[in-house]
Amino acid sequence: MSRISYVNGAYVPHRDAAVHIDDRGYQFADAVYEGVTVRHGRMVDLEPHLERLWRSMGELRIAPPMERGPMRFVFREVIRRNRIENGFLYIQISRGVARRDHAFPTTPTHPSLIVTLKRLDVDGVIKRAEKGVKAFAEPDIRWGRCDVKSTSLLPNILAKQAAKEKGGFEAVLVDRDGFVTEGSSTNMWIVKEDGTVQTRATTDNILPGITRATLLKLAGELQIRVVEEAFTLEDARGAAEMFLSSSTGCATPIVELDGHKIGDGTVGPVAKRLVEAYRLYMEA
Ligand code: PDD
Repeated sequence: MSRISYVNGAYVPHRDAAVHIDDRGYQFADAVYEGVTVRHGRMVDLEPHLERLWRSMGELRIAPPMERGPMRFVFREVIRRNRIENGFLYIQISRGVARRDHAFPTTPTHPSLIVTLKRLDVDGVIKRAEKGVKAFAEPDIRWGRCDVKSTSLLPNILAKQAAKEKGGFEAVLVDRDGFVTEGSSTNMWIVKEDGTVQTRATTDNILPGITRATLLKLAGELQIRVVEEAFTLEDARGAAEMFLSSSTGCATPIVELDGHKIGDGTVGPVAKRLVEAYRLYMEA
């Protein structure tokens, strides 16, 4: 069975799914997106993802291509037509097609909506979390509005590639003052010696992760102490534990940073509890 994608009102075979070359998403990355994990055919945290999508559109003054109700229907329809149980649902909305000009088009455009679904080995992600991953620090060279989930991801891509070429799974982005902002496609967390979990507060220089918000809730239920405060790369190097969070990565421990072990170099007890809590949360 071939993959089916949604493009501007039509469900089409994935290989035929295309947008116009004058689409501003293609030319300027004038677009926003969301990525939702599908677990056992169900979308994890759909409502907060929709909320963030609407906020991103609002910040860039892109008009929603449809109401939330019909959009939920399109998402369900893409999942149904692809018969994928565990996957990654990708949603992108661009300002639409217009004659090339940097400023917003003066005549109204139709925002483009595309929805794709690919398989995601969620069990494999959980399995990987049992061992942990390696990460490497990279300078955060992104723009000043990282709270908007825009498709302008070139700095993120370059950081991820640099980390990958060093044998890492993720890049830990560090600002000019030595503070960790987030990962190239994840939020970052450390665990201090006393068991307190620390993650940066959501300001305009990080994405307010949906997985981050869910983990904060789960940590509260587990009575794990959390502080939302920035930490430096040095703090991370000296931390007892470290982990990342994202829709595709769930909670994944980082056991090595820049070639140095975090803690004893194995997955620590606090991260382990949160990985398990998030796994159960996805099953619910
Ligand atoms: N990335 N920070 C950045 C820069 C991200 O791109 C992402 C998500 C996150 C985690 O957010 P969430 O928990 O809502 O997935 C943090 C997605 C998965 C991606 O770009 O594919």
